[in-house]
Amino acid sequence: HDKLDAFPKDFLWGAASAAYQIEGGWNSDGKGPSIWDTFSKIPGKTFEGTNGDIAVDHYNRYQEDIQLMAKMGLKAYRFSVAWSRVIPDGNGEVNEKGLQFYENLIDELKKHEIEPVLTLYHWDIPQALQDEYNGWESRKVIEDFNRYASVLFERFKDKVKYWVSFNEQNVFTALGYRWEAHPPNISDVKRMFQANHIINLANAKAIQSFREIVPKGMIGPSFGYGPMYSFDCEPNNVLAALNGEEFQNHWWLDVYVNGKYPKVTWKQLERLNVAPSLEDGDMTLLQSVKPDFLGVNYYHGGTVRANEIEFPEQKGNENLDKDFVATDPYLMQPKDEQAQSPEKRMFTNVKNPHLETTNWGWEIDPIGIRIALRRLQNRYDLPMMVTENGLGAYDDLTEDGHVEDDYRIEYLKDHIVEMQKAITDGVDLIGYCAWSFTDLLSWLNGYKKRYGFVYIDRDEKDEKQLERIPKKSYYWYKEVIESNGEKL
Ligand code: BG6
Repeated sequence: HDKLDAFPKDFLWGAASAAYQIEGGWNSDGKGPSIWDTFSKIPGKTFEGTNGDIAVDHYNRYQEDIQLMAKMGLKAYRFSVAWSRVIPDGNGEVNEKGLQFYENLIDELKKHEIEPVLTLYHWDIPQALQDEYNGWESRKVIEDFNRYASVLFERFKDKVKYWVSFNEQNVFTALGYRWEAHPPNISDVKRMFQANHIINLANAKAIQSFREIVPKGMIGPSFGYGPMYSFDCEPNNVLAALNGEEFQNHWWLDVYVNGKYPKVTWKQLERLNVAPSLEDGDMTLLQSVKPDFLGVNYYHGGTVRANEIEFPEQKGNENLDKDFVATDPYLMQPKDEQAQSPEKRMFTNVKNPHLETTNWGWEIDPIGIRIALRRLQNRYDLPMMVTENGLGAYDDLTEDGHVEDDYRIEYLKDHIVEMQKAITDGVDLIGYCAWSFTDLLSWLNGYKKRYGFVYIDRDEKDEKQLERIPKKSYYWYKEVIESNGEKL
């Protein structure tokens, strides 16, 4: 890679996780239930009924996990705080023991010179707020989230520099309010856009507080970004890709960065009577803040063509991927013709004939990460951190206790090279947090779909000893970090 620029000297080579997926200790030391603690216990909602009661027991084993991070030379660790650990009922008493857990975690990271990257919200609103006022659907949540965030800002302002406000707002609103896949398990587009608007307000309000309490810190969202491609150069398809980019990406990012909803999508939502209702002062609040950096979660993008309804005879229809209906919530189509579907007539998802897929049908597209970073740099011109990227795969533990995950190494390597090309192009990239450090509980896929550098010896039914076993990719990433990306 002689011709490529080196990674910046202080590049944050990291890994990521989320509270519900690793901690366990779901009711330890005063923690209240989150919507995931409740939802995962409803029969049939998750793979083989898996829940986060124990997960990979990070709550009790965080020191051991951080030892492994330190031995690897990790420079940054992204984790999330469980709101209901800190304020068990969402808006009442602060639970000192919950705060203390995160303080211990942060201190331990800092002892090993690992930069903490703290996510305020990774999908686990306290159940009590869901019960009290329907969680994100009520404007009451704006103040409650602000109070929760401010408790963390105050406590950790001198210890944590990098903060993520919301993880993948686009994903959790769609899966929770439209596709009935995540809690609160609703299928209602209008309610989805309304809740989404309220989350935007909560995000802005919390950033206002951040500016006062942590003036030297950096805060931004972690957005689930997938670049949209046109199926081919037929102008209708190019237009569809433009629609897709706006509907799936700019709809959130323009609000975070510029405090504005994109016009074309707004009009489309109004036509269908699903646009969020605005109150006086909403847009002023949204425009009053701007993130310091963009967190980018990149797994794959999407390929689209003009809608089949308008162009039925068009070439490419044979590529319409009906399978996506059930297998990939990121790309799901409306369940039936009656469903409200604002993207209808805007674009149709199709399979990209140039890309292979993972065991779970996710496209593998390393060049997409360069395209993503380039597009985001052009449009928003902020520093960026890749806050998630990784390969979900079946891993086998050999009889002598190894995991030879060469496929994961190849996947990560290809993405890192493309990031380096993006940096060479001129992109301002400050870090890369691979998903994930240890294996963890997949929201809907149990423990079969693994992402970690460290294998956790447990399965859906049996948590065994929860032994931590570094995989081949662990040793590989160690060298990548040591050589600041030169040795891939
Ligand atoms: C991201 C989430 O959407 O994708 C993570 O932020 C999640 O929490 C990851 O685990 C992978 O998703 P899955 O469904 O493969 O576990």
